[in-house]
Amino acid sequence: MQIISEISELREIRRSWQKSAKVIAFVPTMGNLHQGHLNLVREAKLKADIVVVSIFVNPMQFGPDEDLDAYPRTLESDSHMLQEIGVDLLFRPKASDIYARGLEQQTFVEVPGLSYMICGASRPGHFRGVATIVCKLFNMVQPNLAFFGEKDFQQLQVIKAMVTDLSMNLQIYGVPTTREADGLAMSSRNHYLKEQERKLAPTLYKKMQQLVAEIHNGRRDFSKLTQEYKLQLSELGFHPDYLEIRDTGTLLPPSHEDNRLVLLAASFLGKTRLIDNLAFELVAQKN
Ligand code: PAF
Repeated sequence: MQIISEISELREIRRSWQKSAKVIAFVPTMGNLHQGHLNLVREAKLKADIVVVSIFVNPMQFGPDEDLDAYPRTLESDSHMLQEIGVDLLFRPKASDIYARGLEQQTFVEVPGLSYMICGASRPGHFRGVATIVCKLFNMVQPNLAFFGEKDFQQLQVIKAMVTDLSMNLQIYGVPTTREADGLAMSSRNHYLKEQERKLAPTLYKKMQQLVAEIHNGRRDFSKLTQEYKLQLSELGFHPDYLEIRDTGTLLPPSHEDNRLVLLAASFLGKTRLIDNLAFELVAQKN
């Protein structure tokens, strides 16, 4: 596996691949890799000749009071894992090169609508930061395919919309969430959980499964239902940010015609913000 930091070097390597018409897959990450990231790489390897992974903790997607400084940086073990799994190229650029004119002056990409709701409402500017860095990395790597985890469901929709809106010539793949044995969605932020919080954390997904089971059993009063479950989560020790049922494509509250829905959740447990989602299909009720 080649490891590079310079954008010019990446461009040179990319040019050499151009000649052999290889399919290039890209997995952008912020590092502190876990099995979820490795599953993105596994999917990428199945569909491409060459797999590029980037590790860049992107300051533009963190709010002023968020965990940019605390975000775990584990480059050595990350590189080892990527080498083992057979990644071809690891790109780990420096922030001073990525944002050469400074963050204040940076041209940005913003996907309106999708970026302002749900997580975007709680984290203003977050999806602008995500869309901008992903667009910049796409411009540098010029992949044919790119892979993102479905755990960040809204991020995936934002990126798909950006690719469509800007007529980008690549295909985006969503990869199902990888979970711990107890159901907790894998996330680099899970390391922040204290022992007791870690024990409680899988309850978020269990409660989401129970909520969706109630819908399958016929409940259709979504707003009352989500309120009830938010209360249950609060009583258990969570601080729910949102628990929302939305249309999977638009992420808008579902209309009567929408039947492919997703339950989206974000909840604090102590200082850690957990997010998760559960897609489901609404089956028409018999009269
Ligand atoms: O999902 C992530 O790790 C990040 O948001 C991404 C897509 C690498 C952009 O920084």
